[in-house]
Amino acid sequence: MKETSKTIEVLLQEHRSFTPSDEFRRQANASDPEIYARADADWQGWWASWAEQLTWERKWDRVLDWKPPHAQWFVGGKLNASVQCLDRHVAAGNGARVAYHWEGEPGDARTLTYAQMLDGVARVANGLKSLGIGQGDRVTLYMPMAPELVMAVLACTRIGAIFSVVFAGFSATSLRDRIQDQEAKLVICGDACWRRGKLLDLKIVVDEAVAACPSIEQVLVWRRGAGAESASAGTPRDLEWSALVDPQPALCAPVAMDAEDPLFILYTSGTTGKPKGIVHSHGGYLTVAYATSQLVFDLKPESDVYWCTADVGWITGHSYVIFGPMANGVTQLMYEGAPNHPQPDRFWELIHKYGVTVFYTAPTAIRAFMKWGDEWPAKHDLSSLRLLGSVGEPINPEAWVWYLHHIGGGKCPIVDTWWQTETGGIMITPLPGITTTVPGSATQPFPGIEAKLLDEQGKEVVGPGGGYLVLSRPWPSMLRGLWRDPERYVQTYWSRFPGMYFPADGAKRDQLGNLWVLGRVDDVMNVSGHRLSTMEIESALVDHHAVAEAAVIGVAHELKGQAPVGFVILRAGREPSDALAKELTRHVGEVIGALARPERIIFTPELPKTRSGKIMRRLLRDVAEGKALGDQTTLADSGVLDGLKKEYESREG
Ligand code: PRX
Repeated sequence: MKETSKTIEVLLQEHRSFTPSDEFRRQANASDPEIYARADADWQGWWASWAEQLTWERKWDRVLDWKPPHAQWFVGGKLNASVQCLDRHVAAGNGARVAYHWEGEPGDARTLTYAQMLDGVARVANGLKSLGIGQGDRVTLYMPMAPELVMAVLACTRIGAIFSVVFAGFSATSLRDRIQDQEAKLVICGDACWRRGKLLDLKIVVDEAVAACPSIEQVLVWRRGAGAESASAGTPRDLEWSALVDPQPALCAPVAMDAEDPLFILYTSGTTGKPKGIVHSHGGYLTVAYATSQLVFDLKPESDVYWCTADVGWITGHSYVIFGPMANGVTQLMYEGAPNHPQPDRFWELIHKYGVTVFYTAPTAIRAFMKWGDEWPAKHDLSSLRLLGSVGEPINPEAWVWYLHHIGGGKCPIVDTWWQTETGGIMITPLPGITTTVPGSATQPFPGIEAKLLDEQGKEVVGPGGGYLVLSRPWPSMLRGLWRDPERYVQTYWSRFPGMYFPADGAKRDQLGNLWVLGRVDDVMNVSGHRLSTMEIESALVDHHAVAEAAVIGVAHELKGQAPVGFVILRAGREPSDALAKELTRHVGEVIGALARPERIIFTPELPKTRSGKIMRRLLRDVAEGKALGDQTTLADSGVLDGLKKEYESREG
């Protein structure tokens, strides 16, 4: 029963915790709380028991070689990722099961079975081979949300090429930097796609990026159709998907890859201006994607229709649109466009139309749904839903209870899942048939994972309290390194607390033992569930000829969680103006991508710095959030702040 008349405040009072119903518990893939103790008692054996459920060409010799901070899992084992996702389901007689219901933003739709996906993947793989792409080569993908993106990913894995998906909202410069860093041989792109009724021209972006990428021999172009055409004039490098792929044979033998061979590179923001190329392996990554999908999303391949709304350009799309759900052989929904096109109830219409049972989205989206109004979900029958998930940032308790009542009909368990690009799979999460959840808390480490809180000195915080979150045991899907930057790997994740993985998040533990991840403790912000580095945006601002110096901070934002604000010192002779602020905002969009555009630009003659010249971002944040200014004792010139505060307040509103 929906309790739409109750206010969020009342619901929050009533829902200090949520216990799964007997009905849910009885059917759950995991319902015995003993699972935690069993996994802890023999965590290597626990992970091996999941790896055993995958299809191996050769079984491993050893489960783990751990020479901190370098882990090798399932050493000596050989397998192919596309086989886990496709062949074994077809071989088991489930080829006719729907793999993806896909719907484009204009309403065009297609349904592809597991057998059809395998057929497509084999053809693309043969096409790639005919272009000379082979084991270890890098292939960059810049594509819209479509089954062909999944086919391209799995085709790379079939022949052992390392794929790297770049989110199709990134700029030509960002795409170029990533292609150059990995020295890719081939780009596979879509020509265009639809987003909120507008055409996004992807091929034009690729043309601009590839012009500066000597390693790229060819560009394979998949045509989106449905009126989405690129204005690109085309180049001699271009190859048509239909011309290359369609004539290929639909059989392609999978290459047996070493468990530790790199599967993909995915770039994410760090604390410097240069994004990090996170490298994931075959065996360990697939094991965790498979296990977590089955237990956290409680997947039932025979009956579920699962929908993760993340774009494949992010880690959530890798692990929980492609590998985890496909390795489990479940039916999925995939949607190309915006949640509010043509109206704010597009998602709810889709859930009803396809009978979605498990729905996984981000808090920023939930807050937008709340703002758009309760009437939109109320128009649709959402009773097919049985489980809801959240990922990407801390979920505020108000959004949690709204999600439970307005989407989950007051009955669906909610799994708030904490993890990162680097962890490959979900690390802290409820298990929906076991955990009593508390709105806003990701609760407990997944079985086999050990998380601790440490204080400034590295001493463990036992019981209730706050501290730095660390993962204190290796796990199979841990990143294997940063692409061609071994030192940065050690420095970034393993030097703050030696022997422990430091994700750069702060967290607290409550009286019940539940973990609450509070957010980043480094110069990384989380904008609408996407990671952005302050340094990257600062470099983009300084790249503009009018800018002498810039400091960027993330400020609290009602919908986005955080939003970037840029403090800018102009070069001599340049005058602040609204037009220039707009131009700088646009410039950041061109250098990084629209998602990085600052919410506001504040011109200032000076920035607060320490006596050693370090910008005090903490104080800028206090100014921007209108808080009492924190400790200023290390500030070189305290007059700077008063000026800044005035400037900020005069521009507010
Ligand atoms: O700060 C944490 C936040 O997102 C960061 C990871 O970002 P990314 O690598 O882009 O991956 C996002 C999708 C897995 C983390 O360091 N974060 C992610 N999920 C949560 C979260 N913070 C709190 N609660 C979560 N459930």
